[in-house]
Amino acid sequence: MLSSQWSVVFKWSFIGFSCFVLLTTKTSGASQSNDPVDARLVEGGSSCSGRLEMKYEGEWKTLTFKAMGSGRATKLKIAQVACRQMGCGSAISITHNVNNTNQRPAWEIELMCDGTELTLRECRNTASLRRVGRRRMTASSQEVVCSDSVRFGNGHSVCSGSLNVKSDNDWAPVCEEGFDSEARKVVCNEFGCGPPMVSSDSSTAEGVPALLKKFQCKGNESRLQDCASSTHKCKQAPAITCQGSYDVRLVGEENSCEGTLEGKLEGEWRPLAVSWALWKPEHSNMVCEKLGCGSVISTLKHDRYGRAWELPSTCWESPTNSSFCKTWMPKFSYMLMTVTCAENVRLVGGLDRCSGKLEIKSGPSWASVCQQSFTTENAQVTCAELGCGFLYSYHSKHYSNAEQATSLVFKCRGKEKHLLDCPTDIRNAMEEDCGEFRTEINCRERGEEPHIDLHTLNMDQDLGYRSEVVKDQRFAISCSTGSLYKPFSMRLRYRIGHRIDQAAEWIQPAVGKSAIFFFPAAEDAHQGLYECDYNYEFKPDFFSNPQTLYLTVKEHHDVRLVDGHSRCAGRLEVEHQEKWRSVSYQHSWSLKEAAVVCRQLGCGAAVSTSKVDDSPEVRSVWRFYSDCEGSERALMECGVVKNWSSSSTIEVACTDILHQPNITIISGLSSTNSEGGEMISMGHSITINCSVEPQYPGGHFSLKINSLNQTHSLTQPAVNHSAVFTFTATEGNCSCVYHNFLFNHNFSSESLSLLMNITDYIGVMLDDENNSPCSGKLLVDVRGGLKLLSAESTVWDLKHASVVCRQLGCGAAISTNNVTLPTKEKMARFYSDCDGSESALLDCGTTVEWFSSSYVQVNCTGETLTDTKMNTSGETLNL
Ligand SMILES: *[C@@H]1O[C@H](CO)[C@@H](O)[C@H](O)[C@H]1NC(C)=O
Ligand SMILES: *[C@@H]1O[C@H](CO)[C@@H](O)[C@H](O)[C@H]1NC(C)=O
Ligand SMILES: *[C@@H]1O[C@H](CO)[C@@H](O)[C@H](O)[C@H]1NC(C)=O
Ligand SMILES: *[C@@H]1O[C@H](CO)[C@@H](O)[C@H](O)[C@H]1NC(C)=O
Ligand SMILES: *[C@@H]1O[C@H](CO)[C@@H](O)[C@H](O)[C@H]1NC(C)=O
Ligand SMILES: *[C@@H]1O[C@H](CO)[C@@H](O)[C@H](O)[C@H]1NC(C)=O
Ligand SMILES: *[C@@H]1O[C@H](CO)[C@@H](O)[C@H](O)[C@H]1NC(C)=O
Ligand SMILES: *[C@@H]1O[C@H](CO)[C@@H](O)[C@H](O)[C@H]1NC(C)=O
Ligand SMILES: *[C@@H]1O[C@H](CO)[C@@H](O)[C@H](O)[C@H]1NC(C)=O
Ligand SMILES: *[C@@H]1O[C@H](CO)[C@@H](O)[C@H](O)[C@H]1NC(C)=O
Repeated sequence: MLSSQWSVVFKWSFIGFSCFVLLTTKTSGASQSNDPVDARLVEGGSSCSGRLEMKYEGEWKTLTFKAMGSGRATKLKIAQVACRQMGCGSAISITHNVNNTNQRPAWEIELMCDGTELTLRECRNTASLRRVGRRRMTASSQEVVCSDSVRFGNGHSVCSGSLNVKSDNDWAPVCEEGFDSEARKVVCNEFGCGPPMVSSDSSTAEGVPALLKKFQCKGNESRLQDCASSTHKCKQAPAITCQGSYDVRLVGEENSCEGTLEGKLEGEWRPLAVSWALWKPEHSNMVCEKLGCGSVISTLKHDRYGRAWELPSTCWESPTNSSFCKTWMPKFSYMLMTVTCAENVRLVGGLDRCSGKLEIKSGPSWASVCQQSFTTENAQVTCAELGCGFLYSYHSKHYSNAEQATSLVFKCRGKEKHLLDCPTDIRNAMEEDCGEFRTEINCRERGEEPHIDLHTLNMDQDLGYRSEVVKDQRFAISCSTGSLYKPFSMRLRYRIGHRIDQAAEWIQPAVGKSAIFFFPAAEDAHQGLYECDYNYEFKPDFFSNPQTLYLTVKEHHDVRLVDGHSRCAGRLEVEHQEKWRSVSYQHSWSLKEAAVVCRQLGCGAAVSTSKVDDSPEVRSVWRFYSDCEGSERALMECGVVKNWSSSSTIEVACTDILHQPNITIISGLSSTNSEGGEMISMGHSITINCSVEPQYPGGHFSLKINSLNQTHSLTQPAVNHSAVFTFTATEGNCSCVYHNFLFNHNFSSESLSLLMNITDYIGVMLDDENNSPCSGKLLVDVRGGLKLLSAESTVWDLKHASVVCRQLGCGAAISTNNVTLPTKEKMARFYSDCDGSESALLDCGTTVEWFSSSYVQVNCTGETLTDTKMNTSGETLNL
């Protein structure tokens, strides 16, 4: 039943009462094409503008769109279809008009046109066709304005396309001839599409010449029809594009050239909500231009919640899009925009808002500026006024169609805020006219990146992005710029990851246009990314774009000692021209040179160097030529090598020939203190293992013990490269020293020193009510805290109690007994390997935590012999 080509719902109601009747109508495709009979524009002064009405069931009624689906874009498409159906030109506008004094019957309709339909009935209706049984009275209507004799293409586009004019009830293109910028201005203006775009001038006409209408406009006509016209055989004019029509303003500040960006849609001003990510400076510039202001200076976003017009992203992706801002949608927005434009100055036609032809406001229009007598100071003030940083260049450029130049001659001093604040003269009429030459200015927001270079001694560097220095070598980093201005200071910063390290920042006044930063001997910490930039005296807070350099610090690789069991002793080899070779023993070689080798290898001082004739035949070696003093950091810093043949080589032994021994505690640690450090009990034995990695056979270890201003040492031969020492712990520190006799010299190497953290916390105590330290409940250390010792033990006996008494300086043990508690508690369980003669309980036994309901008491013979302070570790005993 609903196979009809079209179906529309008409809703027709009285307030408070409505009923729905379903109705479908079938029309023939032929009869509806361009059929104006069922739609018309009334009361608009012409058949191409006015209130939109439709005839249905023989009754003409105002058309009112339901709110839903009647966004501005949708409605504009309806208007396009309506204009086409009326045989008019392009749709210029459609407005929702409310006149409360004038109620009239209406069709309420939901239509979705895509703009290409020939009649409104062809448009898709969102609901099915519905009709309201009674008329609806409404005060609102849709006012459509079409151009009457001009349209873009077939009227599908709004603000761009090839132009067609009505001729003999048909539409035909216009002549290219005479269709100049003035004519485009008139057309764009007629369509309410703002000014024409300046771009597409170059596109050439197409097609064969035909008899077309040629227009000659002055530019101030309100319609193309008002321009002088004639008929000619000519080529068709190319398509034109207008900038689009939209009303915007900046509000909230004193002048109209800065403030919150607002737009007007259907009579209502709202802030414009935009996608910040898509907003570009040229969009702000369009706004400034539209408002007759100068170039944009800044655009800031700020958050504010409220009603706004949302601009679809397509508007901003392509600001030249003619549908710009014709598709605003109501929206609640958090992000609004503050635009600041220069009031009186702009640069036009350049790469960006900060370069181009200088123009100043002159009444409602803009005037360009002669290059003659234009000064650097004038240009500097202009750049600063536009928020464009500093002046990069200014020059004179020829413009074939330049507008009138201003007669003002600026005489800025350079510090003025606005160009128009500068003192001026009036150009002498007698002076030579500047003709078609105008001032063009290029400003730069920041200086261009400098050059950054690494400099090292006698190294042929590849100065690419990655540069290398050898450890211990001095180096320098230079920065230089080709800027027109002399930089004020140059800054070098060291980057760690993405972070600039504030501590590593060096600033130097520029010498000429560069600066050199000298570094001491390269260390590992010098490796990383360096960033150089610079500023100018007139804008010291503003640094240029940076240039970076990644510095790699590499180890020395050009010297080594081989065949000596140690990297610090052996036959000397030097790498030169990528060849490792021995060095022949010649006149210049001495302990001084050997000292440099030892230092370069990080092997301490030189102990000996000697000539070795180990090879019967002569072979290719390096001959060393010295200018060494002995304090240099690397051999090749103070000498050179050359090809040579010799049977002699050099052997070098440095002090640090031996590896550093290790010192480890085997036993004697009594507890862990509160900071987690290991503790040794005073007066108890401690056993230490001194060891060294297998390198040379033999040798001996000494253990150096420093305590209370006294140093004494114990000595043991090295057995399997280690030795074990047991001694009584005292306050102080100790270290292992390994000694060996090698290369006819005594060598020794010392371990790190071990700090003996002596504690009087001895892991055992007796506690009783009378405060007698020599009898009572036995508390022992378990996991760093004192706990009762559980009596549920098979090993505990008087023998163990005697160790406790001895340890506490309480003489011999009298008794040990057993106290039972009503409930179990966390205690210490004792595991023993004691024979009873030990000096401390935990030297021969160990504890674990345990739940138990009986504990041990101990009674010793004597008082404590020392005034040892008992450390209870804050434990409370819940007995
Ligand atoms: C409203 O309609 C009345 C009667 O048609 C007319 O006189 C008046 O000018 C209209 N007002 C507006 C604002 O269009
Ligand atoms: C347009 O400008 C010309 C002078 O250029 C003037 O004679 C004419 O009256 C103006 N026309 C209108 C409609 O303003
Ligand atoms: C202009 O915008 C419309 C949507 O609003 C889009 O379909 C079209 O591709 C755009 N044209 C250009 C040239 O970006
Ligand atoms: C170095 O000497 C060897 C022979 O002694 C010779 O083969 C080689 O070409 C020489 N190299 C240079 C760079 O002179
Ligand atoms: C002594 O304490 C320090 C710091 O807590 C620690 O580094 C060191 O290893 C301790 N020495 C011993 C022998 O436990
Ligand atoms: C001492 O340390 C060395 C090296 O770690 C090891 O080989 C040796 O067994 C240790 N000696 C003792 C008694 O632990
Ligand atoms: C010395 O200690 C280090 C680090 O604890 C270990 O890697 C090395 O093997 C030890 N050397 C010897 C000879 O024990
Ligand atoms: C350690 O020696 C210093 C000076 O050599 C002296 O002042 C200090 O009293 C000595 N300390 C002890 C504990 O002997
Ligand atoms: C202590 O008493 C408990 C329970 O009565 C018993 O199991 C344990 O063997 C006794 N310990 C000693 C050392 O007498
Ligand atoms: C410890 O032994 C002494 C002497 O025999 C005795 O007087 C004292 O009561 C005993 N104390 C305990 C707790 O057994």
